Amino acid sequence: MSPVIPPSPSAADYATGRDRPLIPVVPDPIPFFRDWMTEARAKEPNDSNAMSLATVDADGMPDVRIVLLKEISEAGFSFFTNLESQKGRQLAENPRAALCLHWKSLRRQVRIRGSISRVSEAEADTYFASRAAQSRISAIASDQSRPLPDRAVFEQRIAEVSEVYGDGPDIPRPEFWGGFRLAPTEIEFWQDQAFRMHDRVRYSRAGDGWTTTRLYP
Ligand SMILES: Cc1cc2nc3c(=O)[nH]c(=O)nc-3n(C[C@H](O)[C@H](O)[C@H](O)COP(=O)(O)O)c2cc1C
Repeated sequence: MSPVIPPSPSAADYATGRDRPLIPVVPDPIPFFRDWMTEARAKEPNDSNAMSLATVDADGMPDVRIVLLKEISEAGFSFFTNLESQKGRQLAENPRAALCLHWKSLRRQVRIRGSISRVSEAEADTYFASRAAQSRISAIASDQSRPLPDRAVFEQRIAEVSEVYGDGPDIPRPEFWGGFRLAPTEIEFWQDQAFRMHDRVRYSRAGDGWTTTRLYP
């Protein structure tokens, strides 16, 4: 085994604090997800709302990257990005995606699959306006996912946009920047248990409600 890969936990590693109550089965997974998110926010040192976003391109080739979860509601899970980025184009062609959150300090994972729609222009405006002025300027100046011949070109564009808008407050959201919402058809909660006897509960959409299934680890 490569020395850069940590060894599998020993029996002694599992002996302390690795047993915990099973994941409860509740009628609605969204408030339960919020509870886990709240615990993660308190525990994780950085970006507790970071999640892998998996998409599929026009040739059926999967792709994945991290984005930040920005809103949770019964309608779904929202994130924001450049609509002309690689993920933006993939989601326009195939509006289905999967999300995966991993909270290392809590030893928990949540997997979510579903269909994608755009958030409203008003929602995108509200979120864009909440970002730091420099972050808004950066979003305007970035042709996200397209080749950048030289870092200096990006810095020059940042300087030009900053010249126009200063440090706000009226930095308009560019039309190529917005948000997507994933409406979940499946949500799976996973929690580490000793000796890889992990616990998994999957919620599947059934009309207005959910069915639940406990899965082998
Ligand atoms: C912690 C973290 C958070 C990120 N959050 C976002 C985000 O909310 N939106 C976004 O467009 N990119 C975000 N990124 C950058 C993406 O991972 C990715 O590099 C970028 O969106 C381009 O992806 P694409 O070429 O597949 O479109 C984040 C990266 C990290 C590591």
